[in-house]
Amino acid sequence: MEKYIVEGGRPLYGEVEIQSAKNAVLPLLAAAVLVDGEVILRKCPRIRDVMNMVEILRELGFRTDFIKDTLRIDGADAANHEIPAALAKEMRSSIFMLGSVIARFGRARIAYPGGCDIGLRPIDLHLSGLRRLGVKINEAGGYIDCECDRLRGAKIVLDCPSVGATENIILAAVRAEGDTLIENAAKEPEIVDLANFLNRMGARVYGAGGATIRIEGVKELHGTEYTPISDRIEAGTFLIASAMCGGELVLKNAKAENLAAVIHKLIEISCKIHTDNGKIYIESRGRISPKLVETSPYPGFPTDLQAQITALACICEGSTVVVENLFETRFKHVPELIRMGADITVRGRSAFIRGVSTLKGADVVAGDLRGGAALTLAAISAEGLSTVTDLSHIDRGYSGFEYKLRSVGARIRRIAV
Ligand code: EPZ
Repeated sequence: MEKYIVEGGRPLYGEVEIQSAKNAVLPLLAAAVLVDGEVILRKCPRIRDVMNMVEILRELGFRTDFIKDTLRIDGADAANHEIPAALAKEMRSSIFMLGSVIARFGRARIAYPGGCDIGLRPIDLHLSGLRRLGVKINEAGGYIDCECDRLRGAKIVLDCPSVGATENIILAAVRAEGDTLIENAAKEPEIVDLANFLNRMGARVYGAGGATIRIEGVKELHGTEYTPISDRIEAGTFLIASAMCGGELVLKNAKAENLAAVIHKLIEISCKIHTDNGKIYIESRGRISPKLVETSPYPGFPTDLQAQITALACICEGSTVVVENLFETRFKHVPELIRMGADITVRGRSAFIRGVSTLKGADVVAGDLRGGAALTLAAISAEGLSTVTDLSHIDRGYSGFEYKLRSVGARIRRIAV
């Protein structure tokens, strides 16, 4: 296990290059299963979830070469339809593989997915969507066995705009017979990126980014090269780091239009933010409480930045209520923030925060990916020394997190425990 040692209380000044989006790259890797040609992904982040997904592709018989940040995938010899249980349990995004593996091989076998422990994380919408496309699904002994000799287009109405279910259905529908309509689809930028990538491979996906997506099934798809969109959650994490520590940051390769709800909230807190040609400039000028933050599906405030803005609210003047509407247990970072002197009370899905002037360094433990990032921001903004233990969570989604923070003035280093 590894931990950060942090000496907090220093402002952040400088430039940070934002990585490609973890939650765009993962479905793109699932989409690569659909073609028996070569797919090349550029600017691919070397984070644990991507490495796990690449391992799954290799188990399915894909050849992969990861040189610097370019990932080549060749599916000519792929023939295995069974996703290894150990890898499936590592992360939630293994479930996206179902749609593309069924579309490619006519069947698929996967163990129930793992991932961040932030709630029940059912997969009923994934499975009901695939059943609508003609997939026979048997769930037994912790495994999901799927079979379908011919996928057929269908109209699917999602009970809630699930990101993963929308992606899974698109991945199965692109090679189905006939048209598929998805109503109440998720609108995240990562869905748009997946549609753009699939259309570059010869698919016909229309309306991504809106509530209704139409897919015209095609017989063949071919390989392509692609650079995924930048990671709006990493960018938001650094914007909140700046608001917490003070100073001025420039984020390169950051799409402000994908962060409108977050930028609006930070301006409310009295940050000065402007954007120009793929860069976001932020200057922190004090911290007035945002009063209320409610997470909701895109374009609302993203749940993946809830832990980070909860940490920021701890040192804002005044009180804030943070409501987590998407996941049942996404406040594991709260007891650790309280160890640092935060004043927070959680009731159900709401955290009631009374701002304190500063947090105090302490030894804290990361419980999940975004909670770990939030605790790291708390540590670099706090007075005194902190440690953040169990970095395996952070390594799932942030490439070189401590290097980037150190490059703009934070005193943070990683050691083995
Ligand atoms: C994706 O997870 C992201 N992960 C999550 O990011 C993100 O928090 C989430 O979308 C919401 O934006 C990836 O893209 C790999 P959902 P996903 O299906 O697809 C309910 C991170 O930190 N639901 O949109 O699993 C579910 O319970 C991770 O990067 C069902 O009821 O999220 C939740 O309340 C964490 N049935 C809501 O939908 C289903 O079949 C949103 O979940 C599926 C979901």
